Amino acid sequence: MEEPVRALVAFGTRPEAVKMAPVVRALGADPAFDVRVLSTAQHREMLDQVTRLFGLRVDYDLDAMRGRQALPGLTARILEGASDVLGGAPPDVVLVHGDTTTTFAVALAAFYAQVPVGHVEAGLRSHRRWEPFPEEMNRRLVSTIATWHYAPTERNRANLVAEGAEACDVWVTGNTVIDALLSVVSPAYRFHAPELGRVDFAGRRVIGLTCHRRENLEAPLARMLAAVRDEATVRDDVEVVFPVHRNPAVREVAERELGRAPRVHLVEPLDYGDFSNLMARCSLMLTDSGGVQEEAPALDVPVIVLRDVTERPEAVEAGCALLAGTTYEGVRRSLGALLDDAALYARMAAAPDPYGDGHAAERIRAALREAFGRA
Ligand code: UD1
Ligand code: UDP
Repeated sequence: MEEPVRALVAFGTRPEAVKMAPVVRALGADPAFDVRVLSTAQHREMLDQVTRLFGLRVDYDLDAMRGRQALPGLTARILEGASDVLGGAPPDVVLVHGDTTTTFAVALAAFYAQVPVGHVEAGLRSHRRWEPFPEEMNRRLVSTIATWHYAPTERNRANLVAEGAEACDVWVTGNTVIDALLSVVSPAYRFHAPELGRVDFAGRRVIGLTCHRRENLEAPLARMLAAVRDEATVRDDVEVVFPVHRNPAVREVAERELGRAPRVHLVEPLDYGDFSNLMARCSLMLTDSGGVQEEAPALDVPVIVLRDVTERPEAVEAGCALLAGTTYEGVRRSLGALLDDAALYARMAAAPDPYGDGHAAERIRAALREAFGRA
Protein backbone atom coordinates (compact mmCIF):
# COMPACT_ATOMS: atom_id res chain seq x y z
CA MET A 1 0.00 0.00 0.00
CA GLU A 2 1.20 3.53 -0.81
CA GLU A 3 2.26 5.75 2.10
CA PRO A 4 -0.39 8.36 2.93
CA VAL A 5 0.21 11.96 1.80
CA ARG A 6 1.43 13.94 4.84
CA ALA A 7 -0.60 17.15 4.91
CA LEU A 8 0.04 19.92 7.44
CA VAL A 9 -3.01 22.18 7.81
CA ALA A 10 -2.14 25.59 9.26
CA PHE A 11 -4.32 28.30 10.82
CA GLY A 12 -4.05 30.94 13.51
CA THR A 13 -7.10 33.22 13.63
CA ARG A 14 -10.78 32.57 14.22
CA PRO A 15 -11.90 32.74 10.57
CA GLU A 16 -9.09 30.49 9.34
CA ALA A 17 -10.02 27.83 11.89
CA VAL A 18 -13.71 28.00 10.94
CA LYS A 19 -12.84 27.66 7.26
CA MET A 20 -10.15 24.98 7.67
CA ALA A 21 -12.21 22.79 10.03
CA PRO A 22 -14.10 21.20 7.09
CA VAL A 23 -10.77 20.56 5.30
CA VAL A 24 -9.24 18.87 8.37
CA ARG A 25 -12.39 16.78 8.69
CA ALA A 26 -12.46 15.79 4.99
CA LEU A 27 -8.76 14.84 4.84
CA GLY A 28 -8.92 13.13 8.22
CA ALA A 29 -11.68 10.83 6.96
CA ASP A 30 -9.59 9.70 3.97
CA PRO A 31 -6.88 7.05 4.50
CA ALA A 32 -4.93 8.54 1.58
CA PHE A 33 -3.91 11.38 3.95
CA ASP A 34 -2.03 11.67 7.22
CA VAL A 35 -3.19 15.05 8.56
CA ARG A 36 -1.45 17.18 11.17
CA VAL A 37 -2.64 20.57 12.41
CA LEU A 38 -0.39 23.57 13.06
CA SER A 39 -1.95 26.44 15.01
CA THR A 40 0.08 29.63 15.23
CA ALA A 41 -2.43 30.91 17.82
CA GLN A 42 -2.17 34.38 16.32
CA HIS A 43 -5.52 34.57 18.13
CA ARG A 44 -5.93 32.82 21.46
CA GLU A 45 -9.39 32.84 23.05
CA MET A 46 -11.28 33.48 19.80
CA LEU A 47 -9.40 30.62 18.12
CA ASP A 48 -9.84 28.23 21.03
CA GLN A 49 -13.62 28.74 20.79
CA VAL A 50 -13.48 27.30 17.26
CA THR A 51 -11.07 24.42 17.86
CA ARG A 52 -13.23 23.32 20.82
CA LEU A 53 -16.48 23.52 18.85
CA PHE A 54 -15.19 21.49 15.90
CA GLY A 55 -13.11 19.14 18.05
CA LEU A 56 -9.94 20.01 16.13
CA ARG A 57 -6.83 18.30 17.54
CA VAL A 58 -3.88 20.69 17.33
CA ASP A 59 -0.52 18.92 16.91
CA TYR A 60 1.71 22.02 17.03
CA ASP A 61 0.75 25.23 18.86
CA LEU A 62 3.10 28.21 18.38
CA ASP A 63 1.25 30.35 20.97
CA ALA A 64 2.23 33.47 18.98
CA MET A 65 -0.38 35.99 20.20
CA ARG A 66 0.71 39.00 22.23
CA GLY A 67 -1.47 41.89 23.48
CA ARG A 68 -1.76 44.67 20.86
CA GLN A 69 0.65 42.77 18.62
CA ALA A 70 2.35 44.56 15.73
CA LEU A 71 2.76 42.94 12.33
CA PRO A 72 6.60 42.67 12.16
CA GLY A 73 7.00 40.85 15.49
CA LEU A 74 4.03 38.59 14.87
CA THR A 75 5.31 37.70 11.40
CA ALA A 76 8.80 36.94 12.76
CA ARG A 77 7.48 34.73 15.59
CA ILE A 78 5.33 32.71 13.21
CA LEU A 79 8.06 32.39 10.56
CA GLU A 80 10.52 31.03 13.13
CA GLY A 81 8.03 28.77 14.88
CA ALA A 82 6.61 27.29 11.68
CA SER A 83 10.14 26.77 10.33
CA ASP A 84 11.03 24.76 13.45
CA VAL A 85 7.98 22.54 12.96
CA LEU A 86 8.71 22.01 9.27
CA GLY A 87 12.38 21.32 9.98
CA GLY A 88 11.47 18.57 12.45
CA ALA A 89 9.02 16.65 10.27
CA PRO A 90 8.64 18.02 6.73
CA PRO A 91 5.21 17.14 5.31
CA ASP A 92 4.40 16.57 1.62
CA VAL A 93 2.17 19.65 1.49
CA VAL A 94 1.30 22.61 3.71
CA LEU A 95 -2.22 23.98 3.43
CA VAL A 96 -2.77 27.63 4.38
CA HIS A 97 -5.95 29.66 4.27
CA GLY A 98 -6.82 33.14 3.06
CA ASP A 99 -4.95 36.32 3.87
CA THR A 100 -3.76 36.69 7.45
CA THR A 101 -0.26 37.11 8.86
CA THR A 102 -0.41 33.43 9.75
CA THR A 103 -1.17 32.59 6.11
CA PHE A 104 1.73 34.59 4.74
CA ALA A 105 4.33 33.66 7.36
CA VAL A 106 3.54 29.92 7.27
CA ALA A 107 3.58 29.91 3.46
CA LEU A 108 6.98 31.61 3.53
CA ALA A 109 8.28 29.07 6.07
CA ALA A 110 7.07 26.27 3.79
CA PHE A 111 8.81 27.84 0.83
CA TYR A 112 12.07 28.09 2.78
CA ALA A 113 11.68 24.41 3.73
CA GLN A 114 10.93 23.61 0.05
CA VAL A 115 7.55 22.12 0.84
CA PRO A 116 4.73 22.81 -1.66
CA VAL A 117 1.88 25.02 -0.50
CA GLY A 118 -1.84 24.61 -1.24
CA HIS A 119 -3.74 27.87 -0.78
CA VAL A 120 -7.35 27.56 0.34
CA GLU A 121 -9.55 30.58 -0.45
CA ALA A 122 -7.16 31.82 -3.14
CA GLY A 123 -7.62 34.53 -5.74
CA LEU A 124 -9.70 37.13 -3.90
CA ARG A 125 -8.60 40.62 -4.87
CA SER A 126 -9.69 44.16 -4.07
CA HIS A 127 -7.01 45.34 -6.54
CA ARG A 128 -6.02 48.01 -3.99
CA ARG A 129 -2.78 47.28 -2.19
CA TRP A 130 -3.75 49.02 1.08
CA GLU A 131 -7.32 47.69 1.41
CA PRO A 132 -7.86 45.47 3.22
CA PHE A 133 -4.57 46.01 5.04
CA PRO A 134 -2.43 43.94 5.16
CA GLU A 135 -4.65 41.18 3.78
CA GLU A 136 -4.65 42.16 0.08
CA MET A 137 -0.85 41.97 0.01
CA ASN A 138 -0.77 38.74 2.03
CA ARG A 139 -3.05 37.10 -0.53
CA ARG A 140 -0.98 38.27 -3.48
CA LEU A 141 2.28 37.12 -1.90
CA VAL A 142 0.86 33.72 -1.00
CA SER A 143 -0.46 33.28 -4.56
CA THR A 144 3.14 33.69 -5.73
CA ILE A 145 4.42 31.12 -3.25
CA ALA A 146 1.66 28.52 -3.63
CA THR A 147 1.82 25.55 -5.98
CA TRP A 148 -1.93 24.81 -5.85
CA HIS A 149 -4.76 27.33 -5.55
CA TYR A 150 -8.28 26.52 -4.32
CA ALA A 151 -10.46 29.38 -5.54
CA PRO A 152 -13.94 29.84 -4.05
CA THR A 153 -15.46 31.36 -7.23
CA GLU A 154 -14.90 31.65 -10.99
CA ARG A 155 -13.93 35.29 -10.54
CA ASN A 156 -11.20 34.27 -8.05
CA ARG A 157 -9.92 31.71 -10.57
CA ALA A 158 -9.81 34.36 -13.31
CA ASN A 159 -7.84 36.73 -11.02
CA LEU A 160 -5.20 34.06 -10.47
CA VAL A 161 -4.90 33.08 -14.11
CA ALA A 162 -4.65 36.76 -15.11
CA GLU A 163 -1.68 37.06 -12.73
CA GLY A 164 0.10 34.09 -14.29
CA ALA A 165 -1.03 31.03 -12.32
CA GLU A 166 -1.20 27.89 -14.50
CA ALA A 167 -4.88 27.13 -15.16
CA CYS A 168 -4.26 23.46 -14.31
CA ASP A 169 -3.11 24.42 -10.78
CA VAL A 170 -6.31 26.34 -9.96
CA TRP A 171 -9.46 24.58 -8.77
CA VAL A 172 -12.84 26.28 -8.27
CA THR A 173 -14.17 24.73 -5.08
CA GLY A 174 -16.70 27.06 -3.45
CA ASN A 175 -15.88 28.50 -0.05
CA THR A 176 -15.37 26.06 2.83
CA VAL A 177 -17.14 28.53 5.14
CA ILE A 178 -20.43 27.32 3.71
CA ASP A 179 -19.49 23.73 4.64
CA ALA A 180 -18.83 24.91 8.22
CA LEU A 181 -21.97 27.04 8.39
CA LEU A 182 -24.33 24.32 7.20
CA SER A 183 -22.92 21.95 9.81
CA VAL A 184 -23.97 24.20 12.72
CA VAL A 185 -27.09 26.19 11.76
CA SER A 186 -30.43 24.74 12.79
CA PRO A 187 -33.87 26.22 13.57
CA ALA A 188 -33.92 24.17 16.79
CA TYR A 189 -30.55 25.56 17.98
CA ARG A 190 -30.48 26.90 21.56
CA PHE A 191 -27.97 29.65 22.38
CA HIS A 192 -25.27 29.06 25.01
CA ALA A 193 -24.49 32.76 25.70
CA PRO A 194 -26.89 34.09 28.34
CA GLU A 195 -26.78 37.60 26.76
CA LEU A 196 -28.60 36.28 23.69
CA GLY A 197 -31.50 35.28 25.92
CA ARG A 198 -32.13 39.01 26.47
CA VAL A 199 -32.56 39.80 22.74
CA ASP A 200 -36.16 40.33 21.63
CA PHE A 201 -36.15 38.25 18.40
CA ALA A 202 -39.96 37.96 18.43
CA GLY A 203 -40.78 41.64 18.95
CA ARG A 204 -38.08 43.57 17.09
CA ARG A 205 -35.93 43.49 13.96
CA VAL A 206 -32.51 42.34 15.14
CA ILE A 207 -29.38 43.68 13.45
CA GLY A 208 -26.10 41.79 13.86
CA LEU A 209 -22.96 43.94 13.85
CA THR A 210 -19.25 43.11 13.63
CA CYS A 211 -16.36 45.48 12.86
CA HIS A 212 -12.65 44.96 13.43
CA ARG A 213 -10.50 45.59 10.31
CA ARG A 214 -7.17 47.34 10.84
CA GLU A 215 -7.91 50.00 8.19
CA ASN A 216 -11.22 50.80 9.96
CA LEU A 217 -9.72 51.27 13.44
CA GLU A 218 -10.02 54.65 15.18
CA ALA A 219 -11.89 57.36 13.20
CA PRO A 220 -13.79 55.18 10.65
CA LEU A 221 -14.86 52.73 13.37
CA ALA A 222 -16.00 55.58 15.63
CA ARG A 223 -18.10 57.29 12.97
CA MET A 224 -19.67 54.05 11.71
CA LEU A 225 -20.64 53.01 15.23
CA ALA A 226 -22.04 56.51 15.83
CA ALA A 227 -24.23 56.03 12.75
CA VAL A 228 -25.53 52.71 14.14
CA ARG A 229 -26.17 54.32 17.55
CA ASP A 230 -28.11 57.22 16.05
CA GLU A 231 -30.19 54.96 13.81
CA ALA A 232 -30.98 52.60 16.73
CA THR A 233 -31.91 55.57 18.92
CA VAL A 234 -34.66 56.77 16.57
CA ARG A 235 -36.07 53.30 15.81
CA ASP A 236 -37.63 51.51 18.72
CA ASP A 237 -38.55 48.46 16.60
CA VAL A 238 -34.85 47.61 16.14
CA GLU A 239 -32.24 45.92 18.36
CA VAL A 240 -28.52 45.64 17.63
CA VAL A 241 -26.26 42.79 18.78
CA PHE A 242 -22.51 43.49 18.55
CA PRO A 243 -20.15 40.69 19.60
CA VAL A 244 -17.05 42.81 20.12
CA HIS A 245 -13.72 41.53 18.79
CA ARG A 246 -11.04 41.11 21.50
CA ASN A 247 -8.73 43.68 19.96
CA PRO A 248 -8.50 46.41 22.65
CA ALA A 249 -8.50 49.07 19.90
CA VAL A 250 -11.98 47.84 18.88
CA ARG A 251 -13.31 47.41 22.42
CA GLU A 252 -12.44 50.95 23.56
CA VAL A 253 -14.30 52.58 20.66
CA ALA A 254 -17.26 50.17 20.90
CA GLU A 255 -17.72 50.97 24.58
CA ARG A 256 -17.38 54.71 23.99
CA GLU A 257 -19.80 54.95 21.04
CA LEU A 258 -22.33 52.25 21.90
CA GLY A 259 -21.92 51.52 25.62
CA ARG A 260 -24.98 53.56 26.64
CA ALA A 261 -27.01 53.35 23.41
CA PRO A 262 -30.61 52.15 23.73
CA ARG A 263 -31.42 48.65 22.38
CA VAL A 264 -27.75 47.91 21.62
CA HIS A 265 -26.21 44.77 23.16
CA LEU A 266 -22.41 44.75 23.36
CA VAL A 267 -21.46 41.12 23.98
CA GLU A 268 -18.28 39.04 24.13
CA PRO A 269 -17.18 37.18 20.95
CA LEU A 270 -19.67 34.36 20.49
CA ASP A 271 -18.74 30.79 19.77
CA TYR A 272 -19.37 29.84 16.14
CA GLY A 273 -22.55 27.91 16.94
CA ASP A 274 -24.11 30.89 18.70
CA PHE A 275 -22.89 33.42 16.14
CA SER A 276 -24.09 31.49 13.08
CA ASN A 277 -27.48 30.86 14.60
CA LEU A 278 -27.67 34.51 15.69
CA MET A 279 -27.04 35.52 12.05
CA ALA A 280 -29.74 33.13 10.89
CA ARG A 281 -32.24 34.92 13.19
CA CYS A 282 -31.14 38.47 12.32
CA SER A 283 -32.99 40.73 9.89
CA LEU A 284 -29.70 41.99 8.53
CA MET A 285 -25.96 42.05 9.17
CA LEU A 286 -23.72 45.11 9.31
CA THR A 287 -20.10 44.04 8.97
CA ASP A 288 -16.57 44.59 7.69
CA SER A 289 -15.79 40.88 8.15
CA GLY A 290 -14.89 38.73 5.18
CA GLY A 291 -16.51 35.58 6.53
CA VAL A 292 -19.78 37.26 7.45
CA GLN A 293 -20.08 38.66 3.90
CA GLU A 294 -20.03 35.05 2.70
CA GLU A 295 -22.17 33.44 5.38
CA ALA A 296 -25.10 35.85 5.61
CA PRO A 297 -26.11 35.41 1.92
CA ALA A 298 -26.22 31.65 2.46
CA LEU A 299 -28.73 32.30 5.25
CA ASP A 300 -30.78 34.75 3.09
CA VAL A 301 -29.85 37.60 5.41
CA PRO A 302 -29.00 40.89 3.63
CA VAL A 303 -25.58 42.37 4.41
CA ILE A 304 -24.41 45.97 4.67
CA VAL A 305 -20.64 46.00 4.14
CA LEU A 306 -18.78 48.57 6.25
CA ARG A 307 -15.94 49.13 3.81
CA ASP A 308 -15.01 51.33 0.84
CA VAL A 309 -13.99 48.35 -1.28
CA THR A 310 -14.39 44.59 -1.00
CA GLU A 311 -12.41 41.66 -2.34
CA ARG A 312 -15.74 39.79 -2.28
CA PRO A 313 -17.73 41.67 -4.95
CA GLU A 314 -19.79 38.59 -5.86
CA ALA A 315 -22.31 39.21 -3.06
CA VAL A 316 -22.74 42.87 -4.06
CA GLU A 317 -23.23 41.90 -7.71
CA ALA A 318 -25.62 39.08 -6.86
CA GLY A 319 -27.70 41.60 -4.89
CA CYS A 320 -27.15 40.07 -1.41
CA ALA A 321 -24.92 42.88 -0.13
CA LEU A 322 -24.73 46.70 -0.16
CA LEU A 323 -21.36 48.43 0.05
CA ALA A 324 -22.03 51.27 2.51
CA GLY A 325 -18.57 52.85 2.57
CA THR A 326 -17.14 54.02 5.88
CA THR A 327 -18.69 57.46 6.35
CA TYR A 328 -21.33 58.30 8.96
CA GLU A 329 -23.80 59.35 6.23
CA GLY A 330 -23.13 56.26 4.07
CA VAL A 331 -23.85 53.87 6.93
CA ARG A 332 -27.01 55.69 8.04
CA ARG A 333 -28.24 55.88 4.45
CA SER A 334 -27.73 52.15 3.75
CA LEU A 335 -29.21 51.10 7.06
CA GLY A 336 -32.20 53.40 6.64
CA ALA A 337 -32.80 52.15 3.09
CA LEU A 338 -32.82 48.52 4.09
CA LEU A 339 -35.01 49.09 7.14
CA ASP A 340 -37.57 51.26 5.31
CA ASP A 341 -37.74 49.82 1.79
CA ALA A 342 -39.55 46.49 2.02
CA ALA A 343 -39.13 45.74 -1.71
CA LEU A 344 -35.35 46.30 -1.55
CA TYR A 345 -35.18 44.13 1.55
CA ALA A 346 -37.15 41.30 -0.09
CA ARG A 347 -34.97 41.42 -3.24
CA MET A 348 -31.76 41.25 -1.22
CA ALA A 349 -32.97 38.42 1.01
CA ALA A 350 -34.01 36.38 -2.06
CA ALA A 351 -30.82 36.99 -4.10
CA PRO A 352 -28.81 33.85 -4.91
CA ASP A 353 -25.85 32.89 -2.68
CA PRO A 354 -22.60 33.05 -4.67
CA TYR A 355 -20.20 31.21 -2.33
CA GLY A 356 -20.85 27.54 -2.65
CA ASP A 357 -22.93 24.48 -1.89
CA GLY A 358 -21.27 23.15 1.27
CA HIS A 359 -18.99 20.65 -0.53
CA ALA A 360 -15.86 22.78 -0.97
CA ALA A 361 -13.69 20.68 1.34
CA GLU A 362 -14.46 17.52 -0.64
CA ARG A 363 -13.36 19.28 -3.84
CA ILE A 364 -10.12 20.35 -2.18
CA ARG A 365 -9.51 16.76 -1.08
CA ALA A 366 -10.17 15.53 -4.63
CA ALA A 367 -7.77 18.13 -6.05
CA LEU A 368 -5.06 17.04 -3.60
CA ARG A 369 -5.60 13.38 -4.46
CA GLU A 370 -5.17 14.26 -8.13
CA ALA A 371 -2.03 16.32 -7.47
CA PHE A 372 -0.45 13.40 -5.56
CA GLY A 373 -1.57 10.75 -8.04
CA ARG A 374 -4.16 9.19 -5.67
CA ALA A 375 -7.24 10.05 -7.71
C1 UD1 B 1 -6.57 39.23 12.32
C2 UD1 B 1 -6.17 39.22 10.84
C3 UD1 B 1 -7.36 39.62 9.98
C4 UD1 B 1 -8.59 38.81 10.30
C5 UD1 B 1 -8.87 38.86 11.79
C6 UD1 B 1 -10.02 37.95 12.13
C7 UD1 B 1 -3.86 39.81 10.27
C8 UD1 B 1 -2.91 40.91 10.02
N1 UD1 B 1 -5.11 40.18 10.62
O1 UD1 B 1 -6.86 40.58 12.65
O2 UD1 B 1 -7.02 39.44 8.63
O3 UD1 B 1 -9.69 39.35 9.62
O4 UD1 B 1 -7.70 38.41 12.50
O5 UD1 B 1 -10.56 38.28 13.37
O6 UD1 B 1 -3.51 38.67 10.18
N2 UD1 B 1 -6.85 39.47 20.64
C9 UD1 B 1 -7.07 38.83 21.84
N3 UD1 B 1 -7.60 37.56 21.81
C10 UD1 B 1 -7.92 36.90 20.66
C11 UD1 B 1 -7.70 37.57 19.44
C12 UD1 B 1 -7.15 38.85 19.45
O7 UD1 B 1 -6.79 39.37 22.90
O8 UD1 B 1 -8.40 35.77 20.72
C13 UD1 B 1 -6.28 40.85 20.65
C14 UD1 B 1 -4.78 40.90 20.99
O9 UD1 B 1 -4.53 42.04 21.75
C15 UD1 B 1 -4.15 41.06 19.61
C16 UD1 B 1 -5.19 41.92 18.90
O10 UD1 B 1 -6.45 41.43 19.37
O11 UD1 B 1 -2.87 41.66 19.66
C17 UD1 B 1 -5.13 41.91 17.40
O12 UD1 B 1 -5.06 40.58 16.88
P1 UD1 B 1 -4.44 40.33 15.39
O13 UD1 B 1 -4.54 38.90 15.06
O14 UD1 B 1 -3.12 40.96 15.27
O15 UD1 B 1 -5.37 41.22 14.49
P2 UD1 B 1 -6.91 41.08 14.14
O16 UD1 B 1 -7.44 42.47 14.05
O17 UD1 B 1 -7.54 40.12 15.04
N1 UDP C 1 -17.72 34.76 14.23
C1 UDP C 1 -17.89 34.04 15.41
N2 UDP C 1 -18.20 34.71 16.55
C2 UDP C 1 -18.34 36.08 16.58
C3 UDP C 1 -18.14 36.79 15.38
C4 UDP C 1 -17.82 36.11 14.22
O1 UDP C 1 -17.78 32.82 15.42
O2 UDP C 1 -18.63 36.62 17.65
C5 UDP C 1 -17.34 34.01 13.00
C6 UDP C 1 -18.09 34.38 11.75
O3 UDP C 1 -19.27 33.60 11.63
C7 UDP C 1 -17.09 34.06 10.66
C8 UDP C 1 -15.78 34.36 11.32
O4 UDP C 1 -16.01 34.33 12.74
O5 UDP C 1 -17.08 32.69 10.31
C9 UDP C 1 -15.31 35.71 10.88
O6 UDP C 1 -14.26 36.12 11.69
P1 UDP C 1 -13.73 37.61 11.67
O7 UDP C 1 -14.84 38.55 11.38
O8 UDP C 1 -12.98 37.76 12.94
O9 UDP C 1 -12.68 37.57 10.48
P2 UDP C 1 -12.76 37.89 8.91
O10 UDP C 1 -13.80 37.05 8.29
O11 UDP C 1 -13.04 39.35 8.79
O12 UDP C 1 -11.39 37.58 8.43
